[in-house]
Amino acid sequence: MTKLNICVLPGDGIGPEVTKEAVRILRFVAESQGYDFRFTERAIGGTAIRQFGSALPQETVETCVKSNAVLLGAVGSPEFDSLPSKEKPEAGLLGIRKALGGFANLRPAKAYPAIADCSPIKAEVLGKADIMFVRELLGGLYFGQPRGFEGNRDSAFNTMRYSVEEIERVGRVAFELARKRKKKVTSVDKANVLEVSQLWREVITMLGKEYPDVKLDHMYVDACSMRLITHPTTFDVVLTENLFGDILTDEAAALCGSLGMLSSATIGGNIDLYEPVHGSAPDIAGKGIANPLGAIASAAMMLRHTAKLEDDARDIEDAIREVLEAGYRTADLAKPKSKWVLSTSDMGKMVENKLSEALDRRRAYHAV
Ligand code: IPM
Ligand code: MN
Repeated sequence: MTKLNICVLPGDGIGPEVTKEAVRILRFVAESQGYDFRFTERAIGGTAIRQFGSALPQETVETCVKSNAVLLGAVGSPEFDSLPSKEKPEAGLLGIRKALGGFANLRPAKAYPAIADCSPIKAEVLGKADIMFVRELLGGLYFGQPRGFEGNRDSAFNTMRYSVEEIERVGRVAFELARKRKKKVTSVDKANVLEVSQLWREVITMLGKEYPDVKLDHMYVDACSMRLITHPTTFDVVLTENLFGDILTDEAAALCGSLGMLSSATIGGNIDLYEPVHGSAPDIAGKGIANPLGAIASAAMMLRHTAKLEDDARDIEDAIREVLEAGYRTADLAKPKSKWVLSTSDMGKMVENKLSEALDRRRAYHAV
């Protein structure tokens, strides 16, 4: 697919700064490869509350559902902390996830040797950790009914609920991905306590029989959070429900050096959604120091999963790796000895330069 209508939802905090760099890279790819990518920007989250009085204006939903893919920055602002859940900026994000229908949130966590010194764990333990998290995104505690406060807010409750169908469809995504990787799925649950997890384990075990070539393990979420730190290289695909996936992927991001590095793709619905794993980081918003690499890597995932432009996706990922290998850092990755600490936009430009070099090399090669 070389023609894409992309709806861009910059959102809050550092969202606009990092999405700008992801769009820069997509525009560069389109120009140099002769693709037709068009961008339409819409409001979401706190920004949308301020402008339109709603975290998810109707116009935003309408534009998103008419596009081929959605690129989102981040959502959330302390300014709206006192609002009820349904009116918070985060409700906009949950609402758009639901409207687009993607239930499988792919979050690759890959250790780049160049920034191994940014990881809190020893380089020899981190090794070449390369984990693909498949986080269920439309169920569990985030969406389960009933939910609410009771009495005079003297108690509160949420519901963790999964149907067989919801478990199976996300499970399939994990097994299929594993087939293209190291053929191992670790399904994470809390089956020693929760009925939902017992059902999850049963369904995934049954499904696993359809994939005899893929090795299936089950792990309790507490044990998994520990093993991620002690033995990160033993994982391939990690499959889990919504809340466990939210928590474990922040942990994995820290392991890989910075929350700013991780990208995500949400697939399986009508329209795919791409967003970095990090949040709006209000403390550094507007300073031009945020790490755009997670957002840029999300753009690469868009080219892979929606546009099926695998070579271009890989070129972007290679460019990210090369920029890091050349010693360029954003503030979150910087060490006292770092030579080049770049702003958000300079980091974006640096990735563009590397990409341009790679394309020139390829053209020179084809010319001889
Ligand atoms: C994420 C975020 C969101 C989530 C929040 C902002 C609603 O933490 O994408 O990981 O919990 O899914
Ligand atoms: Mn999260």
